[in-house]
Amino acid sequence: MAKQIGILTAGGDTPGLNAAIRGVGKAALDRYGMRVVGFRDGFRGLAENRTVRLDGASLSGILTIGGTILGTSRDKPHKMVVGGKTQDMTDAIVANYQANQLDALVCIGGGSTQKNALHLARAGLNVITLPKTIDNDVAVTDATFGFDTALGTATDAIDRLHSTAHSHHRIIVVEIMGHRAGWLALGAGIAGGADVILIPEIPYTVEVVAEAIRNRVRGGKPFSIVAVAEGGLSKQHAKSLQRALDLKQHAEDKEQKRLAKAEIAALELEHRDNALYLGRQLEELTGLEARVTILGHLQRGGAPSAADRLLATRLGSKCADLIEQEVYGVMVAAKCDDAIAVPLEAVAGRRKTVPIDHPWITAARDVGTSFGD
Ligand code: F6P
Repeated sequence: MAKQIGILTAGGDTPGLNAAIRGVGKAALDRYGMRVVGFRDGFRGLAENRTVRLDGASLSGILTIGGTILGTSRDKPHKMVVGGKTQDMTDAIVANYQANQLDALVCIGGGSTQKNALHLARAGLNVITLPKTIDNDVAVTDATFGFDTALGTATDAIDRLHSTAHSHHRIIVVEIMGHRAGWLALGAGIAGGADVILIPEIPYTVEVVAEAIRNRVRGGKPFSIVAVAEGGLSKQHAKSLQRALDLKQHAEDKEQKRLAKAEIAALELEHRDNALYLGRQLEELTGLEARVTILGHLQRGGAPSAADRLLATRLGSKCADLIEQEVYGVMVAAKCDDAIAVPLEAVAGRRKTVPIDHPWITAARDVGTSFGD
């Protein structure tokens, strides 16, 4: 009998989500004669049984469109605010999966989605996931769709900031998304020719950054672009954060844990305006004017790049193949030109950060980029 599958998109949106929905959906419908239903707004729509039938017509014309036609949310199956209270909605989700007579559920998302999908797999659902995020920080896969488009957007922004920095002899600090990984700031920083790149994996010293900028002034270049990842942090901040994280991990009682958590929250709050603070510090230390541009959600918008459409389509079609073969509890990962199934246990709870000896870092250092270390 033809299978019936459900699809949802969860977490922050990225360009390429619609291409992935189309990739899974068209292969499932046309190649295998499956029936496809979409759930609105991530795991919340699944918990509330808000569905939309995905057929040839609804899957047509969406390849090039940004965002997600299904909507998304950051809701977790086991911790969802319903009626003002945080509730475990796992049972409701299992019931809706059964009521829709699903054979499999496709969850398209980033790191948190992989964890939530594993939770549902453990609750007995046939789950399969696809890796998306502009942060490129999902473990085991070579790449996530959304990253390439955001990389292009952030690079284009740096290009535009270059000419104004040059004209006014200014420092421009540009903050780039990426959560706790530096892939996006590193990639866009290199491609856009940033003079300084600051990423969470390499904590910086502001005096070293200032000296790199002063060096450029001495060499006749009185302007600089500083690409800072949203998770980029000073050595001092990194040390305090590590201390608080260690305290939390080794807390002997509830009170110690509460104190450690409060300290982490305070440090995170303090870090929120890091780019603005960095701009002010660099003005003081160099005597140059500084301006700060926070790219923010611009990086998540727009039409997907060709590379993201291609990646989402090939992972999506492979996903349909795996469902036909009844391979569940896996994420479809990109491995060179292949798409392979990897157990969710190997992905969930792991973050792919930039190795500090990564070839991109070596290349950037070779062309004179400072990492402030
Ligand atoms: O994970 C994608 C991402 O854009 C991160 O780079 C960023 O830290 C986060 O989402 C922002 O989330 P929100 O849209 O919920 O503010």
